[in-house]
Amino acid sequence: MNNKKPPKATSNTFTLTNNKTGESYELPVLSGTMGPDVIDVRRLYADTGHFTYDPGYTSTGSCESKITFIDGEKGILLYRGYPIDVLAEQSDFMEVCNLLLYGDLPSQSQKKKFERDITYHTMLHEQLNYFFRGFRRDSHPMAVMVGVVGALSAFYHDSTDITDPYHRMVASYRLIAKMPTIAAMAYKYTIGQPFVYPRNDLKFSENFLYMMFGTPCEEFKVNPVLAKAMDRILILHADHEQNASTSTVRLAGSSGANPFACIAAGIASLWGPAHGGANEAVLNMLTEIGDAKNIPEFIKRAKDKDDPFRLMGFGHRVYKNFDPRARVLEKTCHEVLDELGIEDEPLLDIAVELERIALEDDYFVSKKLYPNVDFYSGIIFKAMGIPTSLFTVLFAVARTVGWVAQWNEMIEDPTQKIGRPRQLFMGDKEKKYIPLHKRK
Ligand code: CMC
Repeated sequence: MNNKKPPKATSNTFTLTNNKTGESYELPVLSGTMGPDVIDVRRLYADTGHFTYDPGYTSTGSCESKITFIDGEKGILLYRGYPIDVLAEQSDFMEVCNLLLYGDLPSQSQKKKFERDITYHTMLHEQLNYFFRGFRRDSHPMAVMVGVVGALSAFYHDSTDITDPYHRMVASYRLIAKMPTIAAMAYKYTIGQPFVYPRNDLKFSENFLYMMFGTPCEEFKVNPVLAKAMDRILILHADHEQNASTSTVRLAGSSGANPFACIAAGIASLWGPAHGGANEAVLNMLTEIGDAKNIPEFIKRAKDKDDPFRLMGFGHRVYKNFDPRARVLEKTCHEVLDELGIEDEPLLDIAVELERIALEDDYFVSKKLYPNVDFYSGIIFKAMGIPTSLFTVLFAVARTVGWVAQWNEMIEDPTQKIGRPRQLFMGDKEKKYIPLHKRK
């Protein structure tokens, strides 16, 4: 239900002065419940004929949202007001999904119903098995995810009317429930094992591990420590306000596209190494470093402006002191390695040493580049036996609820318009067309 109040204009304003004409223009300032105030430029073009210029949206608030709050300076991340470390410690992924979608923690009966409703949707249309078989066996699983999730709109057309709240709810539940099934199938397909159907008596994370590692030949017992770690990773990645993939989902959805198509667009955006693809890139980088003695050489490369190499898993657009998700994961990483009896993991040794050296290096300190969530998640996934190419897929499984919650929020927003940025044009002015036969 939409209970949206318009954003509050403060008594403060900004005055823009055109130094050429001397004309002045007052810009209203809006205040949120937390975070910096925003300068409202919505009428700027209509009133002054000027656009704002902000490539990478470093100073742009693209929407109003009530879902996730980040204070990058203080390392604060709240889902619907609840701190991420508290949720990671005390909650579980299904509860967090419910929280993100509905705005507050569910009661016991609401949680039970939500879990039942989600598990009811975990199975895929049987015809999708054949759709998988059209892919090469060595396809990157993110390519498979983009394709299969996009194709869901062809299989579940009965939940694509975005004007109908019931359709929106069913599509949201389907996406959250089916993502682990699709991810596990993408994995099974690459290794040539039969697809494993979901088991609704298992919890969300247990079922995911079961579908990934179970086979029809023998009983598969899910390790509770690993299931807990997986659940925690899902919680930590569930939402992150207006990041690249979420903004992609909102932008795709702003045209009225169906939710399955929008989430497929989000998966494509997540794939890049500057975003969700970083967890895979971290592992590849640690493998390439190979030995702690090679770290200085890689640090030198990362600092070299003429070398495109960056330390993967370091830096963040918003977090400028620490990433609170990385702190939780660092602890989880050690729990998983202890449980699996991995005492000497060379890649972890390299990671720890890399972190130590980078955190002392003036370049990284002065630019406020700290390990982010992807620095540790890759090491945990590797220890669990998950292949590197699947790391970003797991991020997508977790982030689906965030995408879906943000997409629903956008659709229900009465001020929502199609997203349509403008540009600073630097190309040629109008030219005269010369017919081909007259050109040299
Ligand atoms: N290694 C070396 N230098 C870096 C790095 C890095 N990882 N990250 C940023 N810098 C430098 C960058 O060259 C720039 O230097 P200068 O000011 O001299 O030009 C300065 O630090 C600021 O960087 P930026 O690229 O302007 O910052 P951004 O906010 O546009 O980019 C980022 C943020 C996450 C894309 C970037 O830090 C990066 O590429 N990190 C590595 C990839 C990574 O780990 N991504 C996962 C992000 S967390 C998971 C998620 O939310 O998806």
